[in-house]
Amino acid sequence: MIELCHLSKSFDGKAILNDISISIPTGKKVTIIGPSGSGKSTILKLILCLIKPDSGKVLVDGVDMTLLGIADLYEIRKKIGLLFQSAALFDSMSVEENVGFSLFESDHSYSESQIQKKINDALELVEMTGFNTMYPAELSGGQQKRVALARAIITNPQYLLFDEPTTGLDPVLSTSIENLIVRISDELKTTAIVVTHQISTIMRTSDDIYYLHDGCLCDPETPKTITKSANPIIANFINGKLGK
Ligand SMILES: Nc1ncnc2c1ncn2[C@@H]1O[C@H](COP(=O)(O)OP(=O)(O)OP(=O)(O)O)[C@@H](O)[C@H]1O
Ligand SMILES: [Mg+2]
Repeated sequence: MIELCHLSKSFDGKAILNDISISIPTGKKVTIIGPSGSGKSTILKLILCLIKPDSGKVLVDGVDMTLLGIADLYEIRKKIGLLFQSAALFDSMSVEENVGFSLFESDHSYSESQIQKKINDALELVEMTGFNTMYPAELSGGQQKRVALARAIITNPQYLLFDEPTTGLDPVLSTSIENLIVRISDELKTTAIVVTHQISTIMRTSDDIYYLHDGCLCDPETPKTITKSANPIIANFINGKLGK
């Protein structure tokens, strides 16, 4: 379970998150939406403790991430897979070195051939079979994103954080990534937190949808309720995306 308790964060004196609280039970798929610059990526970075909050707690399975030293933080982060908004691949590494990075680097006791199989399975899931020896600069933006997704899921983490997983993908690939998120979450009981602007992703991958506005999270909606939201700010946002 991931819990954010009274979390606040300012940058350069400007409040971005203002006392937000949310509990995300294990196995849930939560989507965070909101205007550009509202602080969505900041929430994901706070969950991983890549940045520290000004106040409040980030609890992962009851452990407050904000109080941990580097070694303990590193242990807890193993439970969490992150797909950055930019694919953030290592330019000097091939696709398979990028995807297998955490397995090569850590103390997993996998043999070379087991790691190779895991890499190939992850690449197959994101429809990138055969790209093993190519380098990020040789890939399109969408292909880079899928490689980054393979890298995020290869260790079967308990929690997956996706920042704009489908942006820049064509509709067919977008649908396959959305289906993948739902499948991973349902089959492995992975908790997924998805930040997205894409309406198809909002509608397909969410149990609960939170709208971030003026530093606060609105009451959650579901794909069924959101198009008829009683909150005019959310209704405008969604209907604008639906072209209504
Ligand atoms: N490290 C930082 N230093 C200073 N300001 C920052 C930093 N990180 C984020 N911000 C600011 O915080 C605000 C929220 O940024 P964030 O990246 O979380 O937005 P977002 O909701 O993810 O937007 P987008 O939809 O465009 O990705 C922005 O105004 C941004 O400029
Ligand atoms: Mg962002």
